[in-house]
Amino acid sequence: MSLTGHKVLITGAGQGIGRACAEVFASLGADLVLLDKNAETLDQVVEKVTKMGGEVTAITMDLTDTDKLLSEVGKVNDEGLIDILINNAGFDRPGTTEKISMEGFEAVLGIHLTVPLFLIQLLLPSMRSAGWGRIINVSSIYGIVGGKGEVAYSTAKAGIIGLTKSVARECGEDGITVNAVLPGLTRTPTIENFMAQRFKDEIIADTPLGRIAEPEEVANVIAFLASDDASYITGAALPVSGGWGM
Ligand SMILES: NC(=O)c1ccc[n+]([C@@H]2O[C@H](COP(=O)([O-])OP(=O)(O)OC[C@H]3O[C@@H](n4cnc5c(N)ncnc54)[C@H](O)[C@@H]3O)[C@@H](O)[C@H]2O)c1
Repeated sequence: MSLTGHKVLITGAGQGIGRACAEVFASLGADLVLLDKNAETLDQVVEKVTKMGGEVTAITMDLTDTDKLLSEVGKVNDEGLIDILINNAGFDRPGTTEKISMEGFEAVLGIHLTVPLFLIQLLLPSMRSAGWGRIINVSSIYGIVGGKGEVAYSTAKAGIIGLTKSVARECGEDGITVNAVLPGLTRTPTIENFMAQRFKDEIIADTPLGRIAEPEEVANVIAFLASDDASYITGAALPVSGGWGM
């Protein structure tokens, strides 16, 4: 499998699944456009993937700054087609339906739904002109099973599946595939540092493979969906969850 000659934009590339995607795509020969709001972690990723050979563009920014997002990414796309888009960046604001604040709810929907929509709107026309494109959205098992105390996150992760399928229907005839991956529990800094062990234990107990995933196990599936090997897959919502949520 090779992605040489392709340019991939990865949001949230500074750590976790986004960092793993940057490394896997670099190893497959793709040029990288990496976005994150954390300059320190993004720099570390850039240092590593630059040594792997491909061209790397890094943009440190808050993705919810829409004007900056559209102008910065638009410029990079004008300089050379971005033909693979990975909508990965995200964060959680836990809360039950009765307690979640409107600010928290809208922030979670903003990063998981509005930012992907804007990026798709921006990049789709040039992918259509090229007659080839790949869009991979990172959803979650919570998007299909719901989460007690995770109403904003689960709603957003269900929404991105609807966005995925709608865009897939709109642009299939132009050679563009659009898919979602639904990770289960994955060993990223946020999960390691902020999720209570009892919640992790509960999920692992419900996971047939009986363990947490490594971020590379998700990134490898994303790379497959971006490759020509996955040329006949579109509109899929693919669990990468060790069987959790089946
Ligand atoms: N880790 C898991 O168990 C798991 C499970 C299912 C789905 N997911 C999803 O996978 C994706 C990646 O998860 P992760 O665990 O690697 O996350 P993470 O928190 O470890 O990393 C997310 C990255 O996104 C960046 N980011 C967040 N908001 C941003 C913003 N507004 N602007 C710019 N950058 C921003 C952060 O700085 C960070 O580097 C997310 O969409 C998450 O919901 C993760």
